[in-house]
Amino acid sequence: MLLFRAKPPADWLDTVLANLPAVLVDHAHLERKAATSAINLEKYHDLFPRVDELNAIAIEELQHFQLVLALLRRRGIPFTQPRPSPWISSLMHAVRKGVRHQVIDHLICGALIEGRSCEKFQWLAEALKERDPELATFYGGLVESEGNHYATYLLMAREIDREETDRRLDFYLDLDAQLIRIPNPHPMLH
Ligand SMILES: [Fe+2]
Ligand SMILES: [Fe+2]
Repeated sequence: MLLFRAKPPADWLDTVLANLPAVLVDHAHLERKAATSAINLEKYHDLFPRVDELNAIAIEELQHFQLVLALLRRRGIPFTQPRPSPWISSLMHAVRKGVRHQVIDHLICGALIEGRSCEKFQWLAEALKERDPELATFYGGLVESEGNHYATYLLMAREIDREETDRRLDFYLDLDAQLIRIPNPHPMLH
């Protein structure tokens, strides 16, 4: 279950639907970054025992990346430069230094990114049903996987330190609720 305290602004969906080619390019980069994030988490000592699970997530994200690239090719959309997400940058900016603190914050940020993807892919699957059934099916097919990544990252953090995770999750859910309301003028998933 997603724990978010605020919804994305109503005009997020309108902006995305009006700019699907740009959003698909952004989505390709998002999957690429999700794969590298899973691998980056393997640097933490606390996650050494979870390295196989993290590799499995990275492989799944690379498969998603390939699926988006295939969609881009079918639609004749060039794969171009990524644009940084202000929402993701602000979440990551709040990651504290220090071995134990850093791994928990990093896992929570990963979980929130996966959770927001899960939520937004659900919205897109619904909104695109009639207008672009191929894309609707594509987004619908990703919802469960991103939801699982959200849950896995939160569970990994709780297994390291349950109390600290819940304390930081409370902080991050408030931060997310503030940040999500800031409009992003660019057509991006996050
Ligand atoms: Fe993914
Ligand atoms: Fe994911």
